[in-house]
Amino acid sequence: MTTRTDSSSDVGVRPMVEADWPDVERIWAAGIATGDATFESSTSTWDVFAAGRPAAHRHVAVGGGTVLGWVACSPTSSGAVYAGVVEHSVYVAPDAQGRGVGGLLLDALVASTEAAGIWTVQSSIFLENEASLRLHLRHGFRVVGHRERVGRAAAGPAAGRWRDTLLVERRSDVVGS
Ligand SMILES: CC(C)(COP(=O)(O)OP(=O)(O)OC[C@H]1O[C@@H](n2cnc3c(N)ncnc32)[C@H](O)[C@@H]1OP(=O)(O)O)[C@@H](O)C(=O)NCCC(=O)NCCS
Repeated sequence: MTTRTDSSSDVGVRPMVEADWPDVERIWAAGIATGDATFESSTSTWDVFAAGRPAAHRHVAVGGGTVLGWVACSPTSSGAVYAGVVEHSVYVAPDAQGRGVGGLLLDALVASTEAAGIWTVQSSIFLENEASLRLHLRHGFRVVGHRERVGRAAAGPAAGRWRDTLLVERRSDVVGS
């Protein structure tokens, strides 16, 4: 487990296990409820979640014995050419935001994906999600596209509203260069 000390606590990152699911789902649901994290309007089951997200790249941040956040990714395509391109999600519990937990999770994701030969990690961020954009820009991601009115959420605070997203990516310097 990697650890880092900040002003408020010791936070470590370790692999996500099935027993973390209630915490992971609760933190995911809190992000969904903001209306600015994802087009998804509900969480899934552990089985569905785990089936689409490789275990080697599922991580949780833990502080004081509590799960504070998580990160996971999915392949963007089944095509061999894109075998090293994944799309991730990162969620931090509301009361743990703003103290670097998201950065620890992104660092863990970058380390595990690079170790597995993955060269590009990408995500889509709603234009309004300033915290996520700042987090990603500070951790080696760049904006590669602005998608206008790319979709409408079916439910939640932004239901029915066409939303713009920013596509961000981090291209590894050590894999496939
Ligand atoms: C986006 C998110 C993962 C960031 O994680 P975090 O641990 O709070 O990240 P950090 O502490 O490194 O903060 C990142 C930046 O956002 C700012 N920030 C964090 N929380 C914030 C908040 N609630 N409101 C405004 N700004 C915030 C921080 O000041 C920091 O900016 P800086 O680097 O310029 O100082 C977290 O806010 C979150 O889980 N949000 C809900 C789910 C979500 O939107 N996920 C991302 C989907 S793309």
